[in-house]
Amino acid sequence: MEDRMISGELQQTDQDIELSLRPETLKQYIGQERTKQNLRIFIQAAKMREEPLDHALLYGPPGLGKTTLASIIANEMGVQFRTTAGPAIERAGDLAAILSSLEPGDVLFIDEIHRLPRSVEEVLYPAMEDFCLDIVVGSGPSARSMRLDLPPFTLVGATTRAGLLSAPLRDRFGVHSRLEYYETEALCSIVERTADIFHVEIDFNAAVEIARRSRGTPRIANRLFKRVRDIAQVKGESIISLDTTQEALEMLQVDAEGLDYIDHKLLKGIMDGFRGGPVGLDTISATIGEESQTIEDVYEPFLLQIGFIQRTPRGRVVTPKAYAHFHREVPGT
Ligand SMILES: Nc1ncnc2c1ncn2[C@@H]1O[C@H](COP(=O)(O)OP(=O)(O)O)[C@@H](O)[C@H]1O
Ligand SMILES: [Mg+2]
Repeated sequence: MEDRMISGELQQTDQDIELSLRPETLKQYIGQERTKQNLRIFIQAAKMREEPLDHALLYGPPGLGKTTLASIIANEMGVQFRTTAGPAIERAGDLAAILSSLEPGDVLFIDEIHRLPRSVEEVLYPAMEDFCLDIVVGSGPSARSMRLDLPPFTLVGATTRAGLLSAPLRDRFGVHSRLEYYETEALCSIVERTADIFHVEIDFNAAVEIARRSRGTPRIANRLFKRVRDIAQVKGESIISLDTTQEALEMLQVDAEGLDYIDHKLLKGIMDGFRGGPVGLDTISATIGEESQTIEDVYEPFLLQIGFIQRTPRGRVVTPKAYAHFHREVPGT
């Protein structure tokens, strides 16, 4: 009981910190240059026409800044940011209630939009296209359909993969932005910005080290930074050093490429159990005891990006580059 309260409080602080680190303007949002450049133009044009921005779909792996960008869009448009998530909207009526409470121009953010039930999704189509709701009043032979007007609004949807969305829903978004893994340089700026917000000094090389090992992901960079800072604090270090950073990352079991315990389990599982593959996702999932959805959305995209695994029609294959990382020989060579 005691334990639970403590961890609940910790979680709360963590969330507060994440909120306080969230950039509020496009200018503060580091990296993703192409996406920012497009959005800047679309936002400016919409404002000149005094219209809401087109509906926007943001997709990419967790932690790359989708929620942050959605709130920035609302901020830059100077409108309210209303937020919900696919799994939270169970019935068509829930969505209807949210939509009819919007004010003109509002940004409605639906996180994990691929998890909207189909019946709810169908309410979205006319809302997105014509800003109206078709609702059925009454039941049986006396049931009739009524059309309700909605204020014009902008829907911003986020998902880990655009391919998870149904085609009709995907097609109703005028803007599609894929967020990319961040370059080390951008992540380094993010770490330095975070240190600044925390009023902590960090050696440039230490910031680079955190950036290099953050799997291209700002959320991970911020999380690693916080742990490194804890250790520096305990050691009484006034400026976070590279030594302390390396020590902390080792403690956290984050390797030189930024791979963690689960990445290792995944790669070694394929190397040890299946001679490097090919092996199907569900088989890997059962072998290492991680959900296939999590593997596919969280772990695999980065391993694909750095060329440690490949997807083939017959399943996943661990590449020679990954074998080299573990100082192992590729089987059969
Ligand atoms: N471009 C960025 N510049 C600075 N910080 C960022 C950026 N993108 C994300 N972050 C940080 O990473 C955290 C996670 O971002 P978030 O928007 O929640 O990711 P997602 O919704 O894609 O999972 C944010 O709280 C923010 O502090
Ligand atoms: Mg999010």
